[in-house]
Amino acid sequence: MQLAQPIWADPAAHLAQTAPDAPVMYFAPTVLAATLRRFRSGFPGMVTYAVKANPLGVVLDNLLAAGIEGFDVASPAEIALVRDRSDGAALHYHNPVRSAAEIAAGVGAHVASWSVDDPAELDKLAAGQPRPTEIAVRLRLPITGGQYNFGEKFGADPEHAAPLLSRVAAMGHRPAITFHPGTQCTSGAAWAAYIAAAADTARIAGLRLSRLNVGGGFPGHRTGAAPDLGPIFDTIGAATRDAFGDDAPALVCEPGRAMVAEAFTLAARVKAVRPDGALILNDGIYGHLPEMPVSGMTDRLRLVDGRGRPRRGAMRPRTVFGPTCDSLDRLPGMIPLPGDVAPGDYLLIDGMGAYSFANATRFNGYGAAGLVTVRRL
Ligand SMILES: Cc1ncc(COP(=O)(O)O)c(C=O)c1O
Repeated sequence: MQLAQPIWADPAAHLAQTAPDAPVMYFAPTVLAATLRRFRSGFPGMVTYAVKANPLGVVLDNLLAAGIEGFDVASPAEIALVRDRSDGAALHYHNPVRSAAEIAAGVGAHVASWSVDDPAELDKLAAGQPRPTEIAVRLRLPITGGQYNFGEKFGADPEHAAPLLSRVAAMGHRPAITFHPGTQCTSGAAWAAYIAAAADTARIAGLRLSRLNVGGGFPGHRTGAAPDLGPIFDTIGAATRDAFGDDAPALVCEPGRAMVAEAFTLAARVKAVRPDGALILNDGIYGHLPEMPVSGMTDRLRLVDGRGRPRRGAMRPRTVFGPTCDSLDRLPGMIPLPGDVAPGDYLLIDGMGAYSFANATRFNGYGAAGLVTVRRL
């Protein structure tokens, strides 16, 4: 295993010396390790990482080096990324719909926990499983909390979840429950509602859960003040005690965004300041910024000149486009930036580790970014 070694002090030092013309993602391994420590000290159960948020090898390597015990994986390709680095890390295959070949790949890689949300998928999955294997019913509730509705695609409604759980047990497997309150969920109340519903489901089925996986969904810092994970962790612990009493199942979480977002800063170069004042960057919604139109624009912006020095002009709202020929390739709203912005400047966007690399396309030939390791962001 090769760990990323910090090379540059910070993004400004790298920009000043190399003047990159392509976007750069700056990675601070120390920030990633500190975030894992925060989860492990605050979350009352096992902490795993959802690979989909950022599957870069350096992310997985650094999490393993920092002692992570398991990963949420969604596909055989993600399973292989983990198994290439670790024989022992627990794999939780929590994409509830899989082909027979995908199930076989998971069995071959010794997946420790699977999720299902309907009887047909359970039958398909259970047929080839050694008994007992942990199979978690994925629960969905009609509640909001996250940035968009994760229950639209996957999940069993409470009235279907209890019979499905009973069926898992009747097949000789270990019944568990999993849920996802929706990504960028800032309200602990969403977790509390799910935990209460999970306890009701187990009670109706007359079963003790082997474990309860409370998903990802923990918020990253996108606007305003950094979200405080402590109250969410406390709410999860208290809700579990309230709902299950002395017989509470062991908890698992599988954050993606909140684990990795803060460890990366994107530098996008200003290609042009147009006559109408609009900016054209070398990265946009088809590259590393696809979440902006969906989740809203982040305010974690720093503008520096070509030598990495902060621009300090009076703020002025601007239209900001990405580099492709598509006029939809635009960051949402009017974005306040220093008025002395000039071509060749860099817009540093903090908190960019999640759903950026993982979702970047090569539309119009753009979308590639350098990866540079730094001591601080
Ligand atoms: C099953 C599952 N677990 C965890 C995650 C990670 O979610 P987040 O990045 O919001 O923490 C996702 C995201 O899609 C998911 O589908």
